[in-house]
Amino acid sequence: MDLRRAGGRVSRRARILVLPGDGIGAEIMPHAVRVLERACPDIELDFEYASIGGAALDSDGVPVTDATLALARAADAVLLGAVGGPQWDDLPMDRRPERGLLRLRSELDLFANLRPAILFAPLASASSLKPELVADLDILIVRELTGGIYFGEPRGVTVGNGGRRGFNTYVYEEREIERIARVAFDLARKRNGRLVSVDKANVLEVTQLWREVVTEVAADYTDVALEHMYVDNAGMQLVRAPRQFDVLVTGNMFGDILSDVAAMLTGSLGMLPSASLNAGGQGLYEPVHGTAPDIAGRNIANPLATILSAAMLLRYSLDAPEAAERLERAVAAALADGLRTADIMPQDGGSEVTRVGTDGMANAVIERLEEDR
Ligand code: IPM
Ligand code: MG
Repeated sequence: MDLRRAGGRVSRRARILVLPGDGIGAEIMPHAVRVLERACPDIELDFEYASIGGAALDSDGVPVTDATLALARAADAVLLGAVGGPQWDDLPMDRRPERGLLRLRSELDLFANLRPAILFAPLASASSLKPELVADLDILIVRELTGGIYFGEPRGVTVGNGGRRGFNTYVYEEREIERIARVAFDLARKRNGRLVSVDKANVLEVTQLWREVVTEVAADYTDVALEHMYVDNAGMQLVRAPRQFDVLVTGNMFGDILSDVAAMLTGSLGMLPSASLNAGGQGLYEPVHGTAPDIAGRNIANPLATILSAAMLLRYSLDAPEAAERLERAVAAALADGLRTADIMPQDGGSEVTRVGTDGMANAVIERLEEDR
């Protein structure tokens, strides 16, 4: 990021690569960009745009181009919508829209995926759990994002005498486990000092190593209380008593699954943001939800997960924590004032809430940002 002197004042500039993607990802993005522009008046944001996923397949024949990867490398941060859709489902694996996102994560070495699941108090009744079980819920899932079974080789489907055979490889190098463990311990230290490492060490050797390495790293963090949990139990505990968790750290696939579970506790998948960081502090910010093709283009999708991802971008890549907090306060205020997209409407309809569309929710956040100066 550049620091430039302008008229005696230091003004900052940052390059943001915007990848709207498909479905509601693309639909929400212009609203999220509007919000982001107003969330940090002291930083001059240079937005660049490129396609990814199905949109890139349609325009360029590949789910992400080398040129887009180069733009991502040169940017201070990447803001992404979502990728995928039924029209691209029958393509071979290496040409599916998801490959674009996976390649971006991998080539920028964005190994640390932070997925906070925070309950905004007014949404307690939208949670799938009883309000008292989720009150003040504030969990952080730290998911390893560039290794594990998602990327392990060999992989494929072969045809032999016994019929077809599909296989993937679940593999972790010691250094991959160590670096994600350090990120999780550092974050736990800044929060409530409790870390649960999730594995399947009773069955899978690769996660026995995971458990061993995490335990070794713990020696450097004697102020953090470490607990190990099998993934099946962790899934069960998340829906039984989620408030027992502070920070969870786990591999790529378990993290994918557990973060969707955690999202639902907060009322809707439409609320969960994420940050994917590399060792250089570069980041890719995206909502955890997908492209929801069934509701795309109808102005009903919840833009808050993308807006909250923009807040994470301010915090982790632009070093603007005050702007991030102001944006999060604006989201909380819009919810406290009773504004709801369809996915977070109370089950009974609710008389004290107002249903708004994608644009209405973004406008409400912008209004509250302007009030909080
Ligand atoms: C996620 C998504 C992706 C993943 C898909 C779209 C490749 O589910 O970000 O959680 O599995 O990582
Ligand atoms: Mg997922």
